[in-house]
Amino acid sequence: MGSEFKLAPSILSADFSNLQSALDICEGGGADWIHVDVMDNQFVPNLTIGPPVVKSLRPRTNKFIDVHLMVLEPERLVEPFARAGADNITFHIEATDDPKKVIDLIRAAGKMVGVSIKPQTPLDSIFSIVDKVNLVLVMSVEPGFGGQDYLPGSTERIVELKRYLSNQCLDRVLIEVDGGIKLQNAEEVISAGGNILVAGSEVFGSDDPVATIREFYTRAEAVGIS
Ligand code: DX5
Ligand code: ZN
Repeated sequence: MGSEFKLAPSILSADFSNLQSALDICEGGGADWIHVDVMDNQFVPNLTIGPPVVKSLRPRTNKFIDVHLMVLEPERLVEPFARAGADNITFHIEATDDPKKVIDLIRAAGKMVGVSIKPQTPLDSIFSIVDKVNLVLVMSVEPGFGGQDYLPGSTERIVELKRYLSNQCLDRVLIEVDGGIKLQNAEEVISAGGNILVAGSEVFGSDDPVATIREFYTRAEAVGIS
């Protein structure tokens, strides 16, 4: 499980007036996951998608819906997003004083659990709970907006996290990387240990989004991961 590759296009960069087209693009390119960025205008300055949108997407795709909660008090939104049809729910370690409670709520809802960490937060802040999650979402930009540049120190953090997980015999915990992911840096991020790459503007800002998704998988194969 630790060495598979998945692309998770972020619909944050899609046309919100036509999300069906975003689903069609993900389908056409063979993306495994659909990444949904939830922002509350408190934890981050932006305001985006709520459970009703996920509820509308759910019957229109069989793809895995990956919800990234960039919100304070994430425990309040676990149940609504679970009921709406999320497959994975990721919360931020910086957004709660009681991560174990959030994890328990997501598990009780029968969903996969992710914990996310901002670029400036020390990696060891997740070490006490990392054995209880399915994935760690390493932010490679400050959360809040699509279209930012990949922060160069991120690759080192991915390598360090992968080493830690391996030393703890926690290779089953997946590493997802989010922010500034482009075709041009995909091989670097995958080689460092990224199993799931989130890409927003690179996919939906492309002239040929379907081909761009496919090209991510080709790049993963080029570094021996598929
Ligand atoms: C940023 C979001 C990302 C964003 C990535 O806060 O979590 O998922 O959509 O967008 P790009 O790929 O354009 O950096
Ligand atoms: Zn995200």
